[in-house]
Amino acid sequence: MTTAGAAEPPYGAAAGQSVAAQPRYGAPAQPPNDTQPPNDSDAPPTGLRPVDDAEAASETLWGGGAPPVPESGELGPTGRPLRLVPDPPPVAVHGNALIVAMCNQKGGVGKTTSTINLGAALAEYGRRVLLVDLDPQGALSAGLGVAHHDLDNTVHNLLVGGRTSIDDVLMHTKVEGMDLLPSNIDLSAAEIQLVNEVGREQTLGRALEPVRDRYDYILIDCQPSLGLLTVNALACSDGVIIPMECEYFSLRGLALLNDTVEKVRDRLNPRLSLYGIVVTMFDARLLHSRQVMSRVVEVFGDVVYDTAIARTVRFPDASVAGEPITTWAPKSGGAEAYRAMAREVIHRSGR
Ligand SMILES: Nc1ncnc2c1ncn2[C@@H]1O[C@H](COP(=O)(O)OP(=O)(O)O)[C@@H](O)[C@H]1O
Ligand SMILES: [Mg+2]
Repeated sequence: MTTAGAAEPPYGAAAGQSVAAQPRYGAPAQPPNDTQPPNDSDAPPTGLRPVDDAEAASETLWGGGAPPVPESGELGPTGRPLRLVPDPPPVAVHGNALIVAMCNQKGGVGKTTSTINLGAALAEYGRRVLLVDLDPQGALSAGLGVAHHDLDNTVHNLLVGGRTSIDDVLMHTKVEGMDLLPSNIDLSAAEIQLVNEVGREQTLGRALEPVRDRYDYILIDCQPSLGLLTVNALACSDGVIIPMECEYFSLRGLALLNDTVEKVRDRLNPRLSLYGIVVTMFDARLLHSRQVMSRVVEVFGDVVYDTAIARTVRFPDASVAGEPITTWAPKSGGAEAYRAMAREVIHRSGR
């Protein structure tokens, strides 16, 4: 028996597979400054060229494209003029949730923080949101103040065994309109337990189906690996949002992630698209931050959200308090940033 995450299709990346045909993704051939990275052999294939028609690319990625919005004269953190995305209109009818995998195989890049705070900001805008903790570390659950170690029913029960009803696992959070499917360390067994299941990659999708009509967005907080749990998230998602730490070496992992997304799209889920890249831990005062950002925008174009999330100690502080930053420090820059991101997400997805 092998554990998922080994280099077995559709997991992991095929060695030597060129991404030249998909110029939007991958790592830069050159670092954004004079510091050459170590010449490691697992560096992703290069051959990227910058996006020259970001608008067309965005249209493909968003299945029709979002309506254009006016630009302010001000330049945003991406170096592009800030788009004035309006406050979203209320939704009258909920349901047919858009499922979004918050994914990056690198740890500590802001996946969990972005899942909690984007979810809370979407809920503030009247969207019904379900957060799925798909990381056995349970950081999403802990960050929402759930004593996850003591739970009898978690995502693990939904994936393995098939006897637990999703309503026995669902929890309301302190944020109105935002619910949670919590996890704890039990989930770490799931990758192995699922290996011999028929349709193992679709297990999460089957589990979520009964509640899809209750929510507008289902955000899945993936673990930092591209193993079977993450493949399950990608196999049932409409799109992927990649939180990316604003640091040069973060760029390098994106080619591998893209390879996995491509494979899942080809083999399991043709509707999977790359919804966006959110740059986190951005520090506008640092030349390095600005250089990485400009490289990310050069390579990925409009897929990069206008909103960047600044580095601030208020995020770890809010997690300790077990709350999203939008309720813990509602007027903070961090809260405003995730609201701005939520406006972009709603605008681009049209929901
Ligand atoms: N914008 C930010 N500024 C400062 N710290 C952050 C920011 N985003 C996340 N963090 C902190 O960095 C750590 C890793 O973030 P987390 O969201 O858990 O990443 P991941 O889920 O990708 O592992 C956490 O302690 C979190 O509080
Ligand atoms: Mg996490």
